[in-house]
Amino acid sequence: MLELALHVLDILRNAVEAGATQVALTIIEDEPANRLTLTITDNGRGMDDETIRRALNPFYTTRRTRHVGLGLPLLAAAAETAGGGLMIRSRPGEGTTVETTFGLDHPDRQPLGDMAATLLAFLLAEAAPDLRYTHRVLRTGFPADNPVFAQEREFAFNTAAIRAELEGLPLNHPVVARWLAEYLAEGERELKEVEHNEPGAVEGAGV
Ligand SMILES: Nc1ncnc2c1ncn2[C@@H]1O[C@H](COP(=O)(O)OP(=O)(O)OP(=O)(O)O)[C@@H](O)[C@H]1O
Ligand SMILES: [Mg+2]
Repeated sequence: MLELALHVLDILRNAVEAGATQVALTIIEDEPANRLTLTITDNGRGMDDETIRRALNPFYTTRRTRHVGLGLPLLAAAAETAGGGLMIRSRPGEGTTVETTFGLDHPDRQPLGDMAATLLAFLLAEAAPDLRYTHRVLRTGFPADNPVFAQEREFAFNTAAIRAELEGLPLNHPVVARWLAEYLAEGERELKEVEHNEPGAVEGAGV
């Protein structure tokens, strides 16, 4: 896969297949720590230790329609190639957390890609679980350790709250879906505007 957003969609779909009614997705682009973290937590059926171990093996799947499960091994490989890794915490009957880290500036890290499109695809699916989404961007200032010019921005929403506002209209109602598409695209676009502060970029910075 060419972008991380598509891997994320895959992991979100695992949560749905595991019967989750609540899913949380957190993305942190942490420039000071040079780390990108993707965390997906669900309240689905969970896995025992043996299932976790086998889930990371590309020839294991509990699907009946195909014989290899690739979602987790592919994401794990993408993380390891980019100086990070994938960790699964899970308990039968309680749910699952998949946490993936990447070297933020690693040359082999796949770009995050179109997160707004991934979120939209997930939320417009029939019987989509509730999603709590947080995407946080931390950029270093200049000089690198100057907290004054560091920036932090966040795009976050919770579909349970959005649904309450909609008073029974489904998220995939055409009017709601159009609004949602714009809301997600705008939220992600604003995060991309968080720029690294270069010398001279801030007026009066004395450099
Ligand atoms: N969130 C989860 N909750 C419970 N079990 C999970 C979860 N994610 C993965 N699994 C288990 O791990 C297996 C492997 O997952 P993986 O995404 O790698 O492949 P798959 O979903 O089976 O197939 P593919 O993703 O290629 O369509 C799944 O079949 C399922 O048994
Ligand atoms: Mg899968």
